[in-house]
Amino acid sequence: MMKRLSFSLLLFSLGTASFAFETVDTKNNTMVLEAVSGQPLYIRYYGGKLCNSDLESVSLCGSLKELAYPFHGNRCHREEALSAIMPDGKLGLNLLVRSVSRKGWEGGEIVEISCRDDVYPFEVKSVYKSYFEENIIETWTEISNCGKKPVVLSRFDSGFLPIRVGDVWITHFYGSWGAEAQVETEPLRRELVTIKSKDGTRNANRARSEVMISLDGKPDENTGRVIGAALCWCGNYELRFDTFDGDNHYFFAGINPDNSAVSLEKNGTFVTPPLALSYSSEGMGGVSRNFHRWARNFKIHDGHRDRMILLNSWEGVHLDIRQEEMVKMIEGIADLGGELFVMDDGWFASGKYKRNSDGSALGDWSVDTDKLPDGIGHLVDVAESHGIKFGIWIEPEMVNSQSEIFEKHPDWILRQPGRDISYGRGGTRIVLDMSNPAVQDFVFKVFDDIMTANPRIAYIKWDCNEIIRNQGSLYLQNQQHTYIEYIGGLIKVLERIRAKYPDIVIQNCSSGGARVNYGIMPYFDEFWTSDQTSAHQRIRIQWGTSYFFPACAMACHISASPDLHTGMPASLKYRVDVAGSGRLGVELHPSGMTDSEKSFCRRAIEDYKSIRSVVQQGDLYRLVSPYDDKGVASLMYCSPGKDKAVFYWWKTDHYIDMRLPRVRMSGLNPAEKYKITELNREEGSKPHTFEGGSFSGKFLMEHGLEIPFDRMNPWQSIVLLLDGQTNRID
Ligand code: DGJ
Repeated sequence: MMKRLSFSLLLFSLGTASFAFETVDTKNNTMVLEAVSGQPLYIRYYGGKLCNSDLESVSLCGSLKELAYPFHGNRCHREEALSAIMPDGKLGLNLLVRSVSRKGWEGGEIVEISCRDDVYPFEVKSVYKSYFEENIIETWTEISNCGKKPVVLSRFDSGFLPIRVGDVWITHFYGSWGAEAQVETEPLRRELVTIKSKDGTRNANRARSEVMISLDGKPDENTGRVIGAALCWCGNYELRFDTFDGDNHYFFAGINPDNSAVSLEKNGTFVTPPLALSYSSEGMGGVSRNFHRWARNFKIHDGHRDRMILLNSWEGVHLDIRQEEMVKMIEGIADLGGELFVMDDGWFASGKYKRNSDGSALGDWSVDTDKLPDGIGHLVDVAESHGIKFGIWIEPEMVNSQSEIFEKHPDWILRQPGRDISYGRGGTRIVLDMSNPAVQDFVFKVFDDIMTANPRIAYIKWDCNEIIRNQGSLYLQNQQHTYIEYIGGLIKVLERIRAKYPDIVIQNCSSGGARVNYGIMPYFDEFWTSDQTSAHQRIRIQWGTSYFFPACAMACHISASPDLHTGMPASLKYRVDVAGSGRLGVELHPSGMTDSEKSFCRRAIEDYKSIRSVVQQGDLYRLVSPYDDKGVASLMYCSPGKDKAVFYWWKTDHYIDMRLPRVRMSGLNPAEKYKITELNREEGSKPHTFEGGSFSGKFLMEHGLEIPFDRMNPWQSIVLLLDGQTNRID
């Protein structure tokens, strides 16, 4: 990619004042910082793209001038991004600009502005990294103690953004196991709004570290100015909106400092995780598409590779792994046209402990030869003999107390000396101390041993099912560093794994989607969206997840009906149509399927292959939200060239005299003619009037297709392929 340097530094004077504006630019966004040597660093603008003459207007119009990284001292009288305790116990800072540097990188530019305290040997470098094509600016800070004695950081956010008060709304995501990423939309009032996590390991549980900020009133998908913010950190975090009497809402994002003060020794530097920001005037949809592009290009491992269609064994057999069943599952998914089989939890044991319940053997990663007499290699061979690949489940950061590894290394777990251990799932599960290099080696070895013994394994499902219940490390001197060093150790291991295994597909799973974030996703190809596979609820979960994460990373599986967790039934077509809007997979035992179900799935999987690149690499347009209770939810993906699109429509309610809205499409080329073909059509069902017809993009976007309400089908859904005919309309 070409290095793009646009106008960077602009010096000019107005009356007696002189300004030094540093801009951080993307294709459609600009951030303006005022960096005058000996003065604090200010943010003057963030929003749509500005040209040089607009820059002068920024200073003339008398608008925004706020500390770019507010610090505790005598310049900031509300929430702060940074507070530090100096060696003499004093608290205040006064950070003044010392230098500015800019350099290009293949995707944009990096602007670094160094500030130094005017009394103490203490420096903060604010870094801004632009992703030009994707319209993302990442910001983080590098905080350095240049003195001899330790400094303690009691708050150390990644970034800060002032947002002009008006009709500002936020959209954020809550929900835990089985109901992840539920969408919450609310106006910002004059109060302190905090969204945070303290789990230690599963930071997307309960609340997520991403937020949409709509500047023009109630959020809309296609219109209005919206800022998206995602903290790229997989540990405890905190997002805060502080709004009291000023002209601005003050948005802060960073690592959660609760019980995590950072001690900076002599010459020590602490680097905060990046906060990724994107601005769009095309509503929340515009921001989502920016984040999806950025994710595929930079933040999800191998973001452009076609994701394989897989069968995962969990819901089919749970822990009851047996060789003959695994072979049946392999044959089953191969017969359906799948490309990968993944053996989930239950395959391992030690001499002493068996994995017949989730309370034992976790950490003892030897094959249970009672269950799999011919070992993993045999299953890899069987899979390959059926033309598919093989994958396997691990949960390497956790152990059961009923395991040989724990008996051998009781000091490897997180715990507080002298106190009883608190256990999680199964009454025995505990978290390893990832800050300990010996544990890091162990976790790396779990992965490495499996791969060395079976180099043709193509996929690893990396699970993480426990929170940090025992808040202490036997390894670390400074207990305040436990949460942060846990993540540091985990990332070191993931880096080692990726250096050695760049091609293996790794799924990020955490009791479903409890660890979906951009701190960890660069090491993973995809995530398990939720253990909740009931299509009805999955629509809402996938919808919420789609605000920041692209379909190629979102694992969506067809499971049995009635649903395992809710008892909710759904037709096979409906389940297929919902799962097919993400990375398609299967989560049931194929032996339980009838011949007609198999034949339907076979055709659906074939259809999916033909649209996979549009779904996984295309631009998402959310059309009707399941959260709006209109009785229908609908979205579509358009290929980057707009020559192909796939439209999804699912009924979400069912009663006589329903009036469903006619859904207008989005993202198409108005001048293109699209031929409509229904996918996943049930055998014998009557084609719709529009089947095979051609419609202009303009018509589809202004009018849409009428999908008749089927009074006898509570699980009505439809998937349409729109194939551009390249006939221009005069
Ligand atoms: C939680 C995951 O979300 C499930 O898919 C499954 O892998 C289980 N863990 C296995 O223990």
